Amino acid sequence: MEMSNRRFGFAISMIIVAIVAANADSSKEIIVKTVKGKKVCDQGWECKGFSIYCCNQTISDFFQTYQFENLFSKRNTPVAHAVGFWDYQSFITAAAIYQPLGFGTTGGKLMQMKEVAAFLAHVGAKTSCGYDVATGGPYAWGLCYNREMSPSQSYCDDYYKFDYPCAPGAEYYGRGAIPIYWNYNYGAVGEALKEDLLNHPEYIEQNATLAFQAAIWRWMTPIKKGQPTAHEVFVGDWKPTKNDTLSKRVPGFGTTMNILYGDSVCGQGDIDPMNVIISHYHAYLDLMGVRREEAGPHEVLTCAEQKPFNPSNTKSSS
Ligand SMILES: *[C@@H]1O[C@H](CO)[C@@H](O)[C@H](O)[C@H]1NC(C)=O
Ligand SMILES: *[C@@H]1O[C@H](CO)[C@@H](O)[C@H](O)[C@H]1NC(C)=O
Ligand SMILES: *[C@@H]1O[C@H](CO)[C@@H](O)[C@H](O)[C@H]1NC(C)=O
Repeated sequence: MEMSNRRFGFAISMIIVAIVAANADSSKEIIVKTVKGKKVCDQGWECKGFSIYCCNQTISDFFQTYQFENLFSKRNTPVAHAVGFWDYQSFITAAAIYQPLGFGTTGGKLMQMKEVAAFLAHVGAKTSCGYDVATGGPYAWGLCYNREMSPSQSYCDDYYKFDYPCAPGAEYYGRGAIPIYWNYNYGAVGEALKEDLLNHPEYIEQNATLAFQAAIWRWMTPIKKGQPTAHEVFVGDWKPTKNDTLSKRVPGFGTTMNILYGDSVCGQGDIDPMNVIISHYHAYLDLMGVRREEAGPHEVLTCAEQKPFNPSNTKSSS
């Protein structure tokens, strides 16, 4: 008797309750269950696999096609360089891999909107062909490119010839939504996404879903083991060490630039390449209806005074 009661209790805690999300698309089902006292959920293709993050809204609940079109309004004008390549669906499809891990699903709606704006600000700034007098303003031109136009080299680093050997004839110039350069980066992303990008780096400029997947992978993956990810420093899942504090690295948008670009953008004072990324972030928050003040104070937005996590060693040679 006691035995069967226990089993009954166990069964209850594992019971699966299907509820229909009240606010969003009424056809969307959130399946909720409790595992070891924790509530976890599954929302179908967009947020699959029973995760705490899938109990929150998904990106498509608060970021829809018209918002993507507003952010990247000039990408299909005739002068753009990747006309017809990028679309909303490729972003949402790519994000589906990472939403169960917290991408755009962490911390509640405001933080979720801010993270999508911040990630896309990097994308917009890195793929823009806008300039000060461009129609629509300088921040309307994100996703104008999907590849580097006049590469000056093939970005093959022989140091990695055992782990990530360059394929004959392959060129590892910048491609994607947050462009990837170099054989070792193509190799590492390819491993993560299970695509043979070392032999076929061109896949990134042929498939927008893959291009967004590679960019979100970069946002969600540390550059080196033991270092925080851009996602973690942005959503506040990172505790700075004493060294970080001495290096002026604080949680927030500024430190995402430190992680992604190091000293090419950070620790150089108030330079243009940094300010352009921050301005995209502000512009995208505006377009998404999030007040600019929510982006936080200057100290959090900037990396002008930060020491890089990974100083480049080629700096003095060129
Ligand atoms: C889900 O959203 C709520 C607020 O709506 C937030 O408190 C919670 O931390 C979020 N869950 C996760 C796993 O971030
Ligand atoms: C593009 O990449 C995605 C993600 O890897 C894949 O599912 C899809 O089949 C690819 N599309 C084409 C046309 O190859
Ligand atoms: C802290 O920074 C110093 C100097 O940059 C470095 O030598 C040391 O390894 C760092 N300590 C940790 C724990 O990262």
